[in-house]
Amino acid sequence: MSEPLVLGIETSCDETAVGIVTGRKLLANVIASSVDEHARFGGVVPEVASRAHLEAMQPSIERALKESGVKLEDLDGIAVTSGPGLVGALLVGVSAANALALALDKPLYGVNHLASHVAVDLLTHEKEFRPSIALLVSGGHSSILKVNELTSDIESLGQTVDDAAGEAFDKIARLMNLGFPGGPIIDRESRDGDREAIKFPRGLSQPKDMQAQPFDFSFSGLKTAVSRYLVATPDFKRADVAASFQEAVVDVLLLKSIKACVDTGIDSLVIAGGVAANSRLRQLASERCARAGIEVRTPPPALCTDNGAMVAALGSLAISAGRAPSRLGIAAASDTPPTQPLWL
Ligand code: KG4
Ligand code: ZN
Repeated sequence: MSEPLVLGIETSCDETAVGIVTGRKLLANVIASSVDEHARFGGVVPEVASRAHLEAMQPSIERALKESGVKLEDLDGIAVTSGPGLVGALLVGVSAANALALALDKPLYGVNHLASHVAVDLLTHEKEFRPSIALLVSGGHSSILKVNELTSDIESLGQTVDDAAGEAFDKIARLMNLGFPGGPIIDRESRDGDREAIKFPRGLSQPKDMQAQPFDFSFSGLKTAVSRYLVATPDFKRADVAASFQEAVVDVLLLKSIKACVDTGIDSLVIAGGVAANSRLRQLASERCARAGIEVRTPPPALCTDNGAMVAALGSLAISAGRAPSRLGIAAASDTPPTQPLWL
């Protein structure tokens, strides 16, 4: 089956998302977010997210089917994020997918949320997948992966030792009372700021760190430095702090991703996950990768943040690659590592 028709369900955090793809073509991408319900708490409240998923699940599936004109019985498989994520939130999607697969007698694919962030790239061009370095930067994870094959062979080269990149954006936005989620707000604020105004630290980038932990990240020192700066400088310029902080994050993300490409001899970089929507990261990545002779791909911003199309994309790839489906009744697995793309 070369162009499997797959419905993908994503509920790992605060988006109830349903996507439908056929092969590498996107047919529907429905997203119902509960972000507004969490904003006043400054972060996602798991119970609130689970309840919102319960309410949005069925209408989202119905809308995706309507938008795509696909009938449930025509599907070749159901894919669902089985982890990592908030366990109560994951459970809603996994239960819905189990029920659909059982009722329709269709194969079920439990897929890894992180691998599917990378897989969504395939929906945006027609080139064959080739071994790539993936910079995966989201609200819960920051890793550099060596992706040899998307459904079966992913190695982890390094990851954050403390906060995820998106979490750092969210925390700094909270410190500055800018709102939640912080990433898009800081991205916007930075446009009018001077990114050279304040020299914030780049974690784990000293020569000795680049030897010992070349592909690991640390953002806690940066967070402390921004927090001290804000206290010590009551008349700080918001846009300058935002732009200088953003530059520190983006600079170190790219320093390490490009080193991973150079060290492994892989000249293809995919940037994935919510933080990949960051405009400065996208701009600097294209500049630096062009200089280094690396082909860089960043999915359109709407496909970087959580969505169901990415889940369907990985499910469709799994079917094309002849991977065995998951057993019916799979559970949610809240801490699946990025090296395990499919759940059996
Ligand atoms: O991948 P994602 O939607 O959910 C997780 O799997 O975590 O990523 C969400 C994260 C949040 O921390 C959010 O602040 C960040 O991605 N984010 C951004 C931008 N858009 C979303 N960070 C920086 N710049 C952006 N434009
Ligand atoms: Zn995500």
